[in-house]
Amino acid sequence: MALTPPSARIWWHEPVAKVELIWITVAFLWGLVMFFMMIYWHGAGKQNLSNEAYRITAEGFTERTNAMVEQYTVREEAGYPVVHPPPGSDVYMIARLWQWWPILEFEKDQSYRLHLASLDWQHGFSLQPTNINLQVHPGYDMVVTVTPDQAGEFSVVCNEFCGIGHHMMLGKIYVK
Ligand code: CUA
Repeated sequence: MALTPPSARIWWHEPVAKVELIWITVAFLWGLVMFFMMIYWHGAGKQNLSNEAYRITAEGFTERTNAMVEQYTVREEAGYPVVHPPPGSDVYMIARLWQWWPILEFEKDQSYRLHLASLDWQHGFSLQPTNINLQVHPGYDMVVTVTPDQAGEFSVVCNEFCGIGHHMMLGKIYVK
């Protein structure tokens, strides 16, 4: 088909072709279906995490994280404290250039309130190999209730570009 102007100057008064109408209707209805599925999947499909966010200062978040680390560190790994907080408690993980700190250790099938905040720029919390992604902003405490149902070693990868060390910004969560 050549790209030529329509033969009639006033082309928009011509009736719309039947296939075109069918296509528009199908696309519109499918869009509606997906819109309602988005809401449905939020509850039933375990997608689109329900999280809470609160304003917090970098100092305030550091203070709470340090208090948890002091109380519940069980060992060290490559200079990082490994923290094993009691089930049901508030657990903190700091995002900063360029680390996720500290290493967390959870118990399988127990729930925790995981708090995430950045001390500097925006970072992305991506839990591997599961498909959980959250933006972590400075000034906000993002809270997610997590109940790990698989034991193992999980990596936290930063998936928002945050500078020269972005690709080395890795964290760890153990589930026992
Ligand atoms: Cu932090 Cu990229």
